[in-house]
Amino acid sequence: MSLLLDIKNLKVDLPTERGVLQAVRGIDIQVKRGEMLCLVGESGCGKSMTSLALMGLLPSKAKRSADHMRFDGIDLQSLDERGMANLRGSRMSMIFQEPMTSLNPSYTLGDQLCEALHAHKKVTAAQARDRAVYLLERAGVPMAADRMRQYPHQLSGGLRQRVMIAMALMCEPDLIIADEPTTALDVTIQAQILRLIRELQKEFGTAVVFITHDLGVVARIADNVSVMYAGQVVENAPVREIFTHPSHHYTRGLLNCIPVRGKTEPGSRLQSIPGVVPSLIGKIEGCTFANRCAHVRDACIAPPNVQVDPTHTALCVDAVPLASLETA
Ligand SMILES: Nc1ncnc2c1ncn2[C@@H]1O[C@H](COP(=O)(O)OP(=O)(O)OP(=O)(O)O)[C@@H](O)[C@H]1O
Ligand code: SF4
Ligand SMILES: [Mg+2]
Repeated sequence: MSLLLDIKNLKVDLPTERGVLQAVRGIDIQVKRGEMLCLVGESGCGKSMTSLALMGLLPSKAKRSADHMRFDGIDLQSLDERGMANLRGSRMSMIFQEPMTSLNPSYTLGDQLCEALHAHKKVTAAQARDRAVYLLERAGVPMAADRMRQYPHQLSGGLRQRVMIAMALMCEPDLIIADEPTTALDVTIQAQILRLIRELQKEFGTAVVFITHDLGVVARIADNVSVMYAGQVVENAPVREIFTHPSHHYTRGLLNCIPVRGKTEPGSRLQSIPGVVPSLIGKIEGCTFANRCAHVRDACIAPPNVQVDPTHTALCVDAVPLASLETA
């Protein structure tokens, strides 16, 4: 499968009163067509800034740089605002945590869904309407044709998120970026929406960058995982590898925070990672996780990005190539 998204050394700097906040510190992202990449990490580690940088939606004061940013061979850094706006909505769409940030309260759902299509494709009003009703039905919105006449405030949070999913699919995008789309929903609705996103992603062959702080969500939907910490990707691997051979101490810490069926005693206390994320203002010397890591030592001043296996990297002095473990 060819690479749809190929990002090298992405950085996002935000000027603040206390100095430059380096929210994203040189990360690489690669996503193939039809693949689901999960970006996972604690609050404040730079997940949203990464997604906004990819979509060209950063705050105006933010400064973005990269060695390269390619989307289906298109150099994203060479596009002006108009070029990015053309890509957004037609070939790349975004789903936010709170649907009301994207839905306009003054327009009906039908108008908003059809507008997304009219803005980018030459279709008749009837074709746009048919597609909107079809996608609302596919997204599990009951009485889809009637809902077209309703306004966003007339729907529950779960239904609004289903509408957002339908809207994101209107122009058959190649890539959807979903930033914590289920975090605000209760657990049963969350499970339904995750299943839906996975089903539609497979059905339409859409690549998805799915942002979450929850490894339980990652286990359900990811093909590949990038674990983010303090603006860096500290581990990157196929989902199975992350759970069977976590190779960065931060990833291990995250895994210890989630209950495992058959392992975690019912009623027992789950672990948490002690300490706090370092300030992202200015440079961080050495491993960004050092102030919370029980294994820190002198060598951590320059952690190598270890190739654990051909599809797995980890930025830690304790990461070991799997081949060397097997021959030992
Ligand atoms: N508009 C802004 N101006 C200055 N700093 C910001 C701005 N928005 C975010 N930040 C900072 O950038 C860093 C990365 O934030 P980001 O929103 O990307 O984190 P996140 O991983 O998405 O967190 P969460 O899980 O809470 O959504 C944080 O330190 C945050 O405080
Ligand atoms: S590089 Fe050092 S401080 Fe960082 S996670 Fe690995 S052992 Fe811990
Ligand atoms: Mg965020």
